[in-house]
Amino acid sequence: MRRVYLDNNATTPVLPEVLEAMRPFYLEEFGNASSIHHYGQHARAAVEKARASVAALVNARPAEIVFLSGGTESDNLAIFGLVRSGDHVVTSAIEHHAVLNSCKRLEQMGCEVSYVPVNGRGEIAPEDVRKALRPNTRLISIMMANNETGVLQPVEEIGRIALEADVFFHTDAVQAAGKVPIDVAKIACDALSISGHKIHAPQGTGAMFLKKGTLIQPMLYGGSHERQRRAGTENLPGIVGLGKAAEIARKWLESDGPEKMSAMRDHLQETLLRSAEAAGVNGLGAPRVPNTTNLWFDFIEGEALVIALDLKGLAVSSGAACSSGAIEPSHVLLAMGLSQQRARSSVRLSLGKQTTQEDIDFACQVVPETVARLREISPLYQKQTVG
Ligand SMILES: Cc1ncc(COP(=O)(O)O)c(C=O)c1O
Repeated sequence: MRRVYLDNNATTPVLPEVLEAMRPFYLEEFGNASSIHHYGQHARAAVEKARASVAALVNARPAEIVFLSGGTESDNLAIFGLVRSGDHVVTSAIEHHAVLNSCKRLEQMGCEVSYVPVNGRGEIAPEDVRKALRPNTRLISIMMANNETGVLQPVEEIGRIALEADVFFHTDAVQAAGKVPIDVAKIACDALSISGHKIHAPQGTGAMFLKKGTLIQPMLYGGSHERQRRAGTENLPGIVGLGKAAEIARKWLESDGPEKMSAMRDHLQETLLRSAEAAGVNGLGAPRVPNTTNLWFDFIEGEALVIALDLKGLAVSSGAACSSGAIEPSHVLLAMGLSQQRARSSVRLSLGKQTTQEDIDFACQVVPETVARLREISPLYQKQTVG
């Protein structure tokens, strides 16, 4: 059976070149980067090479990159490391749960949090961020690209607001890194989060950009690894993989890769819209990363569509999450003003660097037929067409 993977916002496959770069660091070059002998020196050199590569991806200095276990840890470190009890934080209603649940915890710890809304296209207005500031605001945490819709947020404007107000600015760039150019100087952020497995490096790898001179309270105590910002022996092969993936991403961004990817995404999106009535794109008209499209198909359940497509060999995702046995519609789509029903009827298709035109053609064929079949058996659709 043919299988096509269009769920690259969930995770991406490790690219063969990335795996090749990692291999020696499991076998011959397995040293601890803190050891002073030959093995340690080689490991240290490899970690520092990877650091320079990740730094180059976001236009940072190598010393401003901290390696850690992924996007979730990076978001947590930024939030718990920069905020103190009694502080106020500004974030948005559409953040990933790594940020939202950290903010909930902050509230339990005696902090105040403001959640700025989004418009119907999923965009945050910088002015709303400015209006949310209070005298005790310490941190603004606003994502660069949303994981469900791919909508890019005006982080440069928000960075300017943070700078003027003299508050920290953290941006979760997990879904932006490797998809759009990132320049931490232009964003004027103090912290920025990256996850390895969204850019074809292994799961359980990630990095944080932390602006030079920013004092952060570490979350882990132990040795003085990562300049005392993240204790624990470095994940050497994972870091090497992340460095290689960052290098590949940087070259891809400088090539016609993004253009080709957005052309494939747009073709997919337009074909699906043409082939089904009562369908639409969430976030249409807003600037988006080139790999993501999120569509609603009225009268069907996104979860049912995901399962039916999986049986045909196509892997996509619905934004809905199952919590305590009930399927909850996506908080992102609800924040954009979608009805519960329309939010539940939405699915996300996301491309990766391995995605081919044949993969897109396959999706263009199986999604319309599956939507049509599910609608045939949907009582809601029957009622609407008969009525
Ligand atoms: C926007 C965003 N932030 C954070 C994360 C968490 O990253 P990780 O899976 O590396 O912990 C994700 C993962 O889906 C994400 O999409």
